[in-house]
Amino acid sequence: MPTRLVIEGGVPLRGAVAVSAAKNAALPALTAALLTVEPVALDNVPLLADVATIRSLLERLGARITDEPDGSTRVQVAVLGSPEAPYALVSTMRASVLVLGPLVARAGVARVALPGGCAIGVRPIDQHLKGLQKLGADITITNGYVEARASRLKGARITTDLVTVTGTENLMMAAALAEGTTVLENAAREPEVADLARLLVGMGARIEGAGTERIEIEGVSELGGTRHRVIPDRIEAGTLLAAGAITGGDVTVTGVRPRHLTATLAKLEECGASITVEGDHVRCQGPARPQPAHVITSPFPGFPTDMQAQIMALLGLADGLSTITETIFENRFMHVAELCRMGARIEADGSTAVVRGVPGYQGAQVMATDLRASASLVLAGLAARGTTEVARVYHLDRGYERLESKLQSLGALIRRVR
Ligand code: EPU
Repeated sequence: MPTRLVIEGGVPLRGAVAVSAAKNAALPALTAALLTVEPVALDNVPLLADVATIRSLLERLGARITDEPDGSTRVQVAVLGSPEAPYALVSTMRASVLVLGPLVARAGVARVALPGGCAIGVRPIDQHLKGLQKLGADITITNGYVEARASRLKGARITTDLVTVTGTENLMMAAALAEGTTVLENAAREPEVADLARLLVGMGARIEGAGTERIEIEGVSELGGTRHRVIPDRIEAGTLLAAGAITGGDVTVTGVRPRHLTATLAKLEECGASITVEGDHVRCQGPARPQPAHVITSPFPGFPTDMQAQIMALLGLADGLSTITETIFENRFMHVAELCRMGARIEADGSTAVVRGVPGYQGAQVMATDLRASASLVLAGLAARGTTEVARVYHLDRGYERLESKLQSLGALIRRVR
């Protein structure tokens, strides 16, 4: 039987909840272990479907992965197996492409299935490939696979045509073992990129500027093992704070890095929430009714595309008209139709959605289409009058660790049923 989340809406959420480590930092951190024969220990890898997928891929590539008694995850790739990421894994999770850079750097060859599109857009990897070519790799595409070959990569100056998060990560990992200096211009400034750089530096890499648009990497001939704590998940934190805001509740998230959340917090405040930051705690007191706002997604430090669906659920209840412009992905409004089934009045036209606030949502049966869309439906369900059933919960499980237990701990009436 498929799993659904059943939510009885209308309860203001109250209390404190700790955030998990970031999915989008854990995935590249796990693949970085391919760069060394020594073990890499990660302290707080979240239990997520996407993490399970990357673990199976790494195991296929020869990694030995153990969950240690101290809670850490230890990855060791003493001997590489066949350097191939098969279509079955890449098509379920695009982030599998993160093995490309490390494999070609370490083994001199990588075969990775071309990801193709996904629910939120076409998502090519041309910038990853262009960058690897600049580093001296020979790239061929045959039978749906990219094959990259190089005896040893050579440092180069690479300016990507657009800002790409996993592209920057792939090139940074490849350049870490290249001969000479690489400069990445127009690099992604996301905190997850900076976290990966910290891990690589712990492994012996020489990297400067990660977290800015210019990253300089001086290649070394080998990297070693290390231990690393993955940064907290800013998107999970934002989602939980939005749950406080949309229910008119009072939610504190703990263990966060508030400066990773600047754009999200500013927007929640604009929507009428009262935000208090104290150390690694952020408190969100929801308004009686949200205020309208205009949102435009952009690379960090702008408003994250990964929070767009959740803020839409909130603005759907605002007292007035809001607009949301999605600039990162061309097809990331799949949640609009589902929110409308709950009574929202939203029209999406191209990259902009016009949101006419309604006073309330009604519970309904809705279907998740991707990870963040599922989160927005859960938020709408928490605020709705009556019962909401969210189907296709596997999307949510890809990127949220025990979301329903965290929400339950805040008083939400939410349960998982089969
Ligand atoms: N793009 C290209 N060519 C490339 C690379 C990207 O045209 O070679 C385009 C994409 O199609 C997209 C834009 O550039 O339109 C930005 O894509 P980016 O490469 O930055 O996205 P990503 O690295 O594939 C990561 C996160 C996503 C997050 C985006 C944007 C991971 C594992 N994934 O994806 O997370 O939305 O950055 O911030 O880090 C999520 O967690 O729900 C999620 C989708």
